[in-house]
Amino acid sequence: MKKRIAVLPGDGIGKEVTKGAINVLQAVGERFGHQFEFTYGSIGGGAIDAHGTPLPEETIEVCKKSDAVLLGAVGGPKWETLPGHLRPEKGLLRIRKELNLYANLRPVSYYSSTAATSPLRQEVIEGADMLVVRELTGGLYFGKPSERSTAENGEDSVVDTLFYKKSEMERVIRLAFQLAEKRDKKVTSVDKANVLESSRMWRETAEEIAKEHPAVKLEHMLVDNAAMQLIRNPKQFDVLVTENLFGDILSDEASVLTGSLGMLPSASISENGPYLYEPIHGSAPDIEGKNIANPIAMILSAAMMLRTSFNLDKEAAAVENAVKQVLESGSKTSDIALPGQKTIGTAEMIEEIKATI
Ligand code: NAI
Ligand code: MG
Repeated sequence: MKKRIAVLPGDGIGKEVTKGAINVLQAVGERFGHQFEFTYGSIGGGAIDAHGTPLPEETIEVCKKSDAVLLGAVGGPKWETLPGHLRPEKGLLRIRKELNLYANLRPVSYYSSTAATSPLRQEVIEGADMLVVRELTGGLYFGKPSERSTAENGEDSVVDTLFYKKSEMERVIRLAFQLAEKRDKKVTSVDKANVLESSRMWRETAEEIAKEHPAVKLEHMLVDNAAMQLIRNPKQFDVLVTENLFGDILSDEASVLTGSLGMLPSASISENGPYLYEPIHGSAPDIEGKNIANPIAMILSAAMMLRTSFNLDKEAAAVENAVKQVLESGSKTSDIALPGQKTIGTAEMIEEIKATI
């Protein structure tokens, strides 16, 4: 199989961990006989320095012509004082919009070898394995009006709008059901239907889509309860689907279940363009250039790409198993090591995973 992959390393440790994904994909290519062609593009602070914009048109073109996009992370103190439209994060928002990425997928699963670094008790998280599906292009973050005004008596008021079209709900909920069919066949749809009209429509839509997928069990949960259940009993979840704001909050909450930010990958899905894969962490300027960043989130993002964009299940499993094996052998970067444990650097971790593949 031959695939074209756009690579946007970005800033800070983004550049360091992206090397991990490339190395691992090359190892997969060699072992399984595939050809991956990488085209680099600039985004974020580096792009501002070189081109005066956080997302050059050329980068958008490269992404649109590729079969999938790998992104490191953007941002850093150097660019924090720039005006809003010239911030690295604008590049990220714009590429998501240009590629029409309507759903963000965040798998959270238990690794026995890193579980000790989780703030939760071992028996609570042991065996937890869930996928959070967050709607990414609608809801409160994009609804109009979103503005302040001042009444005649001089008091300020403000409005944000939670707006969804039915079709926007349908596509992300349908995706959740399709993914659940390949997993443990359960969808938990999270809403606030006891209060919000938008949530009542969300719930109805989930019921309709459920009829298309009789093998999958649908359960509704109110978002406040879901926030509690996620840490009280995370094992009850398989696929969790929700609108943009609830998903933003719950997916960050879910990500602490299994320890370090440096372990967690994500995928963003569109209707017909290339999908985008990135670790959930940022550019971590505090550890940049020190060879201590954990490259596993980025490497597992590449594994998600193999499975989701290219249907290469065997290859994705080879990457995931290599990660597991290396961790079980005792090799840890400092973010997932216990105090006093011996640690290895970014480059060594990449090398070990590559060699294991
Ligand atoms: P961050 O995720 O970069 O770092 C948070 C903490 O986790 C830091 O102490 C960092 O050292 C640690 N950490 C993160 N990734 C790690 C890894 N792979 N291995 C070991 N430790 C790791 O979030 P922070 O500090 O809030 O933001 C830093 C910059 O990154 C900001 O400019 C922010 O805007 C940007 N950012 C970018 C994102 C993206 O590009 N998708 C997402 C989040 C933040
Ligand atoms: Mg967030």
